[in-house]
Amino acid sequence: MATEYSSRRFLTIAVVPWGDQWKKMRRVVTCEIVSASKLHSLLENRTEEADNLVRFIYNQCKSNGGDNSTASAVVNLRLAMRQYSGNVIRKMIFNRRYFGEGRKDGGPGYEEEEHVESLFTVLKHLYSFILSDYIPWLRSFDLEGHEKTVRKAMKIVNDYQDPLIDERVQEWREGKRTESEDLLDAFILAKDSNGKRALSIEEIKAQCAELMLATVDNPSNAVEWAMAEMINQPEILLKAVEEIDAVVGKERLVQEADIPKLNYVKACAREGFRLHPIAPFNLPHVSTADATVAGYFIPKGSHVLLSRYGLGRNPKVWDDPLKFNPERHLKDGSMCVGLTETDLRFISFSTGRRGCMGVALGTAMTVMLLARLLQGFNWRVPPNEANIDLSEAKDDLFMAKPLHALGQPRLPAHLYPAN
Ligand code: HEM
Repeated sequence: MATEYSSRRFLTIAVVPWGDQWKKMRRVVTCEIVSASKLHSLLENRTEEADNLVRFIYNQCKSNGGDNSTASAVVNLRLAMRQYSGNVIRKMIFNRRYFGEGRKDGGPGYEEEEHVESLFTVLKHLYSFILSDYIPWLRSFDLEGHEKTVRKAMKIVNDYQDPLIDERVQEWREGKRTESEDLLDAFILAKDSNGKRALSIEEIKAQCAELMLATVDNPSNAVEWAMAEMINQPEILLKAVEEIDAVVGKERLVQEADIPKLNYVKACAREGFRLHPIAPFNLPHVSTADATVAGYFIPKGSHVLLSRYGLGRNPKVWDDPLKFNPERHLKDGSMCVGLTETDLRFISFSTGRRGCMGVALGTAMTVMLLARLLQGFNWRVPPNEANIDLSEAKDDLFMAKPLHALGQPRLPAHLYPAN
């Protein structure tokens, strides 16, 4: 069935492009931003942020005293994971981790926390129900207050990002820059079929915001849930760590080049996406032609929402669907497990012409996040708690309480990135 995104929802968010503009943006993003060569050229930026994640957690463990083998701390893993995701994409777009002065221990400053929190506020509203999606004339009343909240959050995001973009465009105009270093340069230099600049400054700003939004939530949510489930089932956690030790060893940190061989780790991340989707439904689509699916007639113009829960927890497809069980993804003896699911037995990157454009980057970020946490530290339930509380939040599908766990370094001290 052919579908497009629902335009009304995106008018509210005012970031995601639509119609002809979408085609142009899709071409620019595919050719200039997520191409294999571009991702390869920015590998160092991503690795630096994976190191930074390990450094941030290691410093927390060490701050309580003790040598490498005895140091430990209860770590706010949600904060570390969300900041890792924000750092990776910020580093890839703007070639910087910090908007403000930064911190020596690798952790976020006030500015980075505010930036990432504002992105999450926008994302929460992107998926939520509003009446004016179905009764458009109600939009000006902003009955649910969503528009006001999203505008405020987008202003915070743009206030951090836009001055950097203006400054960079100016540098190119004045000839102060001659080489493309990051994704912002790639957007500025992108050409159309006539060899002219493809994007206006406003379009570049919208694209930078969209890339931040597209990247920051999925890896951190899937890995937060996967880690929580694995800490409650230590035999699964141990198996993943054993795989990393066998593939990578304990004398170097895991790298993106190791990902093809980390099938069990990828199966754990896949299980995170299946069992704990980021939202109950996919982004709203509209059918662009009459269609019949499974005997149901769907007229052109219908809103189409796929239930992520319905798919990922469907007992007709998945045995014991509520159990976190990575083995289910290894049953067919597949030599290379991936995070995509083109048959839509659950939704990770979705599929089709409006499917995710960032599969390679999203996979690299998710697997590196999980693998570095598992390789770098032993993880246990915090003292005085029986197990990790796996309740979902009341108004979204994140964990109700941010994941905190007791971390302890498990590698030789010299492998932890220094301050
Ligand atoms: C694990 C990480 C990620 C997951 C699970 C994910 C998942 C998705 C999903 C489910 C959609 C909607 C597809 C639909 O409605 O059919 C989507 C759209 C999109 N994703 Fe991702 N994504 C991830 C990371 C990224 C990254 C790193 C980028 C950066 C380039 C990205 C760029 C996009 C874009 C631009 C769209 C909109 C496509 C369009 O407008 O046609 N995603 N993603």
